[in-house]
Amino acid sequence: MSQVDSTREHLIETYRKKAKHYDFTSRLYPAPFYPQRAQRLRAVQALGLRAGDSVIDIACGTGLNFPLLEQVIGPGGRIVGVDLTDAMLAHAQDRIAANGWRNVSLVQADAADFDFPAEVDGILSTYALSQVPECAKVIAHGAAALSGGGRWVVLDLKVPDRTPGWLARSGTAIVRHFASIDQWIMRRPWDAIRVAMHEELADFSWTELCFGTAFLAAGSSHK
Ligand SMILES: C[S@@+](CC[C@H](N)C(=O)[O-])C[C@H]1O[C@@H](n2cnc3c(N)ncnc32)[C@H](O)[C@@H]1O
Repeated sequence: MSQVDSTREHLIETYRKKAKHYDFTSRLYPAPFYPQRAQRLRAVQALGLRAGDSVIDIACGTGLNFPLLEQVIGPGGRIVGVDLTDAMLAHAQDRIAANGWRNVSLVQADAADFDFPAEVDGILSTYALSQVPECAKVIAHGAAALSGGGRWVVLDLKVPDRTPGWLARSGTAIVRHFASIDQWIMRRPWDAIRVAMHEELADFSWTELCFGTAFLAAGSSHK
């Protein structure tokens, strides 16, 4: 099995175990009282969506972004949630049913293999893309699928610059469960995301949040 395949298998197993309690436990990540909801709101605002727009939520998990997206796009819009883990999608499906949303569909796929529909108005990924080894490929595929003026927004965690290694290891509990924290810190996936977004999108912006423990990267289609 290749390194990418074994990382994928490990992720699926990890999130199968976490799915049931994810909505509660995610509130404690990366630390209790972390302003996750405020960050999600900023990410959705950065998409610049309007009523009736279509949006893809990459690695959507249990669909925690869906209510925020629904508020903006309304019943005339469309959400496609994509995730690798069946159990996370099962909870997303429960959320869809409980809210009676008829404009949300779910796709079980690796983000790296996902066939983006053409002319989508927005693509969002929150607290997930840094776990995807082929994140640059995902960003490129998404950018090619955006409509003119469409926006790509990534919100994710990072290690603050100038943080000693021991402090980063003890502070970033969120990644401890799915990968070697040392690998994640050494790989610095937020750098790859930044470079790919800068290359693939116009009006690129990069905003560090919460003392550099998270970032919001955004850009528009070149079309
Ligand atoms: C920390 S959760 C974040 C879920 C959601 N985006 C949120 O903000 O709550 C990470 C999610 O990424 C998904 N994931 C990880 N690697 C993936 C990949 N290569 N393709 C699709 N989904 C992936 C996992 O299954 C999990 O649901």
